[in-house]
Amino acid sequence: RYILLVNGPNLNRLGVRRPDVYGAETLADIRRRVEQVTRAYGVEVRAFQSNHEGAIIDFLQAEGPGALGLIINPGALGHYGWALRDCLEDIHIPAVEVHISNVHKREPFRHQLVLAGVVTGQVVGLGTYGYEAAARYLMALCTGAGD
Ligand code: DQA
Repeated sequence: RYILLVNGPNLNRLGVRRPDVYGAETLADIRRRVEQVTRAYGVEVRAFQSNHEGAIIDFLQAEGPGALGLIINPGALGHYGWALRDCLEDIHIPAVEVHISNVHKREPFRHQLVLAGVVTGQVVGLGTYGYEAAARYLMALCTGAGD
């Protein structure tokens, strides 16, 4: 029993890149935080980060079908990643899209979110807590409380 935690381009730089916007936590910190939530449910976290859309699609095609759910911060791919969008549409698991910053308050190019129609929901602007919120939601779904 596992969920996927996927992060897209530049998110390997969390903690270093724009801490004013994205906070001080690293990707390793975020993974630990998500694991703390899922552990109580006996659910593992398979984490993947890539700066390449195709590598993310390869990972989702391989690991998606067996997963209980997906937490994905697509980074800027969220604004234009149509191939990633088609991939998510093809994998029938609950998916929560996370953006650390409130993209709607930022530059206009960040306002379009192309995955919106193929994810269960989105968490935007709650900082790195958004990942934890997404994990709590997926665990509620697993136990039948999230419908
Ligand atoms: C982001 C928002 C995107 O616009 C940006 O390209 C990122 C991070 C966020 O988590 O707030 O890389 O997805």
